[in-house]
Amino acid sequence: MDDRRSFLKKSAIASVALSLPAISSCACFDTIRASVPMKTRRVGSALVAWYSQTGNTRRYGRLLAKTMQEAGIRVTASDLREVDKSKIGAYDLIIIGSPVFYYDAPLFVQQWVRSLPDLKGMPVAVYVSFGGPEGNQHNAACSILECLVQRQGVPVAQRAFVNIGAYPLSWAGDKIKKTPWKHRDLPDRQTYDRVREYARHVLGQVAQGQAAEFSKKLTLREGLTFLGPIYWTKRSIEEHYLIRDKCIECGTCGDNCPAGAINLADYSVDRQACVLCFGCLNNCPAQAVYMQYDGVRLIGFQEFLKLKNIKIMEPAELKA
Ligand SMILES: Cc1cc2nc3c(=O)[nH]c(=O)nc-3n(C[C@H](O)[C@H](O)[C@H](O)COP(=O)(O)O)c2cc1C
Repeated sequence: MDDRRSFLKKSAIASVALSLPAISSCACFDTIRASVPMKTRRVGSALVAWYSQTGNTRRYGRLLAKTMQEAGIRVTASDLREVDKSKIGAYDLIIIGSPVFYYDAPLFVQQWVRSLPDLKGMPVAVYVSFGGPEGNQHNAACSILECLVQRQGVPVAQRAFVNIGAYPLSWAGDKIKKTPWKHRDLPDRQTYDRVREYARHVLGQVAQGQAAEFSKKLTLREGLTFLGPIYWTKRSIEEHYLIRDKCIECGTCGDNCPAGAINLADYSVDRQACVLCFGCLNNCPAQAVYMQYDGVRLIGFQEFLKLKNIKIMEPAELKA
């Protein structure tokens, strides 16, 4: 028998599903295409910049960079928070990487791209990593491309790479015992081959002066992005703070928080500012982040990997 909470949840999902045809019929997506000519066909230097909470997007970004370096290109590979935006015009190509969060690219990534200076026809490409069954990954990549095109970038490619997901609610409570783990063997060799191939594809597109066009697709998940999935999920998180006695004050939680919501001085989390990315919980080396959902304590990605005895495979080039 359903309790009140799960009954309400199911009712909310049912009403959302019923209203989707209406949402879909009023949603129209413009084609994402360049509005200026591509500034160069020769890539001497490139920037690969990512936002990554649990390492997947970073690993792919580093592999893309390595593959391009092997093709003789000077590559800067970095977390996008460390990029000097004022020097961005010096590159011949930019590749932006992001995880899919809540069926879209995180707002933080979209805002970062929108804050770039005019890209003046620079070729741009995007990749996303995702872990869900159908993560709306194509549309999430389109969201970033849209922002890049607004900054006068010329889109050449986009790609999505699936891997084990890092969303703590998917293994909350009893689910950790029951769930046959999705994508637990990913990334594997084929995933990394696809990443290497993508690097070559992007370079090929630029060499041929080949701009690409993309359109978002109408999907159930795209409909859900209009309904603020973060807001609703946040409402079901009952507690969120740092455990004083466990905290080793390493600052990892704060470094990973894109919203500046962690206050180490009093071990609190500004829940209003929090964007529920789980960066604090997923990365804390001391398990000092307390989050409670539906009466159970959530465990982070690193702890989850240990419990399930999962080791993420590294690509050969990055092992050294
Ligand atoms: C807060 C959060 C929301 C997520 N939402 C989605 C989603 O909507 N669809 C999906 O396919 N994966 C989702 N995931 C899984 C991530 O996209 C996936 O684990 C990704 O590879 C994480 O990238 P990172 O390791 O670079 O942080 C989510 C993960 C988190 C932590």
